[in-house]
Amino acid sequence: MTSTDFVVARNDLAQCKLIETVLPDAAVLPADALLVKVERFAFTANNITYAVMGDQLKYWQIFPAPQGFGNIPVWGFGEVIASNHPGITVGERLFGYFPMATHLVVEAADVSRRSLRDGAEHRKQVSPVYNLYSRVTGDPAFAGHQGDLQALLRPLFMLSFLVDDFLAENDDFGARSVLLSSASSKTAFGLAHLLHSRGRKVIGLTSASNTGFVGSLPCYDEIVTYERIDSLPTDKPVAYVDMAGSSALRAGLHHHFGEQMKSSVRVGLTHRATDADEGALPGAKPRWFFAPDHIRKRAKDWGPGGIEQRFGTAWSGFAPMLERCLSVVESRGPEAVKRIYLDTLNGRIPPEQGHMLSLLG
Ligand SMILES: NC(=O)c1ccc[n+]([C@@H]2O[C@H](COP(=O)([O-])OP(=O)(O)OC[C@H]3O[C@@H](n4cnc5c(N)ncnc54)[C@H](OP(=O)(O)O)[C@@H]3O)[C@@H](O)[C@H]2O)c1
Repeated sequence: MTSTDFVVARNDLAQCKLIETVLPDAAVLPADALLVKVERFAFTANNITYAVMGDQLKYWQIFPAPQGFGNIPVWGFGEVIASNHPGITVGERLFGYFPMATHLVVEAADVSRRSLRDGAEHRKQVSPVYNLYSRVTGDPAFAGHQGDLQALLRPLFMLSFLVDDFLAENDDFGARSVLLSSASSKTAFGLAHLLHSRGRKVIGLTSASNTGFVGSLPCYDEIVTYERIDSLPTDKPVAYVDMAGSSALRAGLHHHFGEQMKSSVRVGLTHRATDADEGALPGAKPRWFFAPDHIRKRAKDWGPGGIEQRFGTAWSGFAPMLERCLSVVESRGPEAVKRIYLDTLNGRIPPEQGHMLSLLG
């Protein structure tokens, strides 16, 4: 039996191809191993960032690919089609991190009622969150359309939730307005929703072509295109959360706001434009937000289940907005996966769309 895998050249993400990898026969799976059919997965700019940061943040190690190529991790659903683990039955559905492929062998470890972990040696060096699979058989929150929204938004909204919490904990560094770049991205509008809900003024920075979508969202107080950042008033302190990762934009904002820039948090790289030399910037020093550090801190502060409980409440407030602003588009088969991958890489996906893909025909 084989798995069809979609792989990309690590040094040129526009080059991609399908390969077939041989899977172990169900009869000779290692002890405790599961053979999982990858049913469907979400694909957004976040997955492109995994590829851009593949070497630096070890994303390429999670799902090995031939020399020079990488298999981009995606969030999605799988069905167990063979099991050597006494506690996991064939037909179980799992939600977690999968390769862009039709199948995955998982070495089941730490199996509990709600989850299991892939204990494969090559996955040990990444953050534990990437090796965890939720057991979601029969859970309506992870089925059908709700399941698509979970796969598309849940991992992104966790980041929105953590950044909002980080800013709130620091009283927004004295700022009462927060600027978000790539305001049309799912991670940004999740954060905008949380900031808006607690009374912050949220200013969305976006491309001219995406202002219509951003303007249709109830969570932005003001929308400014990238070309017009100089029109923003500078009399009050601001904080900046950067999803676009453009060094020219970041430098422009810091020079415009000067010492009124009270916090500058780097989160994403949607524009993949980090070549401009920023030099020393006025205002707060830009710094990367590292989610695992903040999770560790809050797990200690809030105790067992504290993050999950607060995140669950935040998600319940966010989900109704999704129903209004996002349409899920499902595409199946290798050609469709390649097309959506290249469209996402080249910024051609309309922001109101959330793509669910499958390499199965
Ligand atoms: N650090 C973390 O742990 C973490 C967690 C979650 C997400 N993030 C990051 O947040 C960012 C947003 O991710 P997402 O999945 O929410 O994105 P998304 O919804 O797919 O965002 C799409 C938007 O990104 C911009 N964009 C995408 N590709 C582009 C391209 N090739 N050229 C120019 N603009 C492009 C456009 O927005 P505009 O026109 O508005 O610029 C586009 O509407 C990613 O970089 C992601 O990695 C980081």
